[in-house]
Amino acid sequence: MKKETTTAYPINTLIENRWSPRVFGTEAISEEQLRVLFEAGRWAPSSNNHQPWVIIWGIKGTEAYDRIYSCLDEFNQSWANNAQALMLGGYKKTTPDGKDNFHALHDLGLFMGNVSVQAQQLGIALHQMAGVNYKKAMTEFAMPDNYHIATATAIGYYGGDLDKLSDDLQEEETKLRSRKSQHSFTFNGDFNEQIFEK
Ligand SMILES: Cc1cc2nc3c(=O)[nH]c(=O)nc-3n(C[C@H](O)[C@H](O)[C@H](O)COP(=O)(O)O)c2cc1C
Repeated sequence: MKKETTTAYPINTLIENRWSPRVFGTEAISEEQLRVLFEAGRWAPSSNNHQPWVIIWGIKGTEAYDRIYSCLDEFNQSWANNAQALMLGGYKKTTPDGKDNFHALHDLGLFMGNVSVQAQQLGIALHQMAGVNYKKAMTEFAMPDNYHIATATAIGYYGGDLDKLSDDLQEEETKLRSRKSQHSFTFNGDFNEQIFEK
């Protein structure tokens, strides 16, 4: 399913056409396809080239997938088993010299940005999720305290059976995408919170 996106300026069609579904096609996602996505992420820029990202991944039908699924919150569990692959996105919180890496979350975001554009080119959809029990995930996957798990991502081909979703989620699935206007968050001078909040 394609969603209409009304952009204010012409942009790259991979960015324009990306959206976050909660149902996916039945075609499997292979390790090779995931490796292509991770390779795109691997070439993202990062502060000091620290590359703080950590990815834990699993393909449907495997134990790793079930273990990732078990770390999702209840709402996300209600639909994320439609995905053909699941991953957790984490990062190392400290730099090699032991200081806080304040930009690690930013860099994981850049990694995921690359992954989402690469996925779009392959017809693969992502649905990122903040709703993860990160403490459970860190214990489940043996991550030390100086790491953090920020998100999970559901992965699969676009297309899928809407009937697999509750009525509420079917409505969400078909809703038009929306965004704040550029003027509400771009300032050619002082920040203005009243404009930002609109
Ligand atoms: C970091 C992050 C966390 C998100 N968390 C969730 C989530 O827990 N559950 C969910 O259903 N969608 C989640 N989303 C999806 C967003 O709601 C979605 O990207 C947003 O509504 C814009 O829609 P679009 O991606 O289709 O353009 C998350 C997206 C991001 C980037």
